[in-house]
Amino acid sequence: MNQLVTETAKAEADGKWQPEIIAFCCNYCAYAAADLAGSRRMQYPTNVRVVHVPCTGKIEMEHILGAFERGIDGVLIAGCLEGGCHFLEGNLRAKKRSEYLREMLDQIGVGRDRLRMVNLSAAMAPTFVERVKEIVETVESLGPNPLRKSGTP
Ligand code: FES
Repeated sequence: MNQLVTETAKAEADGKWQPEIIAFCCNYCAYAAADLAGSRRMQYPTNVRVVHVPCTGKIEMEHILGAFERGIDGVLIAGCLEGGCHFLEGNLRAKKRSEYLREMLDQIGVGRDRLRMVNLSAAMAPTFVERVKEIVETVESLGPNPLRKSGTP
């Protein structure tokens, strides 16, 4: 994450703000979809960093809030289809957490639209790419994370 923040700080120094997005992808479906997108050479914005997690149910609220506190502009949580989580209900727990966090992000002035959750099967590479492009566009329209301190990672 620090490398991503540094790259963006460089872009800002050049006067070009680029949103920094983290995509937390569960091992079994979403990461496989992201991997498939890569092996099919499907293009998606380079300012999105994929973070491989065992299951979206393992993503704690502190991980997401911590990312926003450190200046990340948007977070995508990508898990298995509902009913398809390999840890039974991990994606349902992640869904509840992300809904709660979206509410909280609104309350603290960051904005709910900076956090999204998507459910994918391993074969849904085009959907993964589409969702990534959507969150990048949304965050670009929102501007930099208001928690980001100018010039500091
Ligand atoms: Fe994919 Fe749980 S293993 S969301």
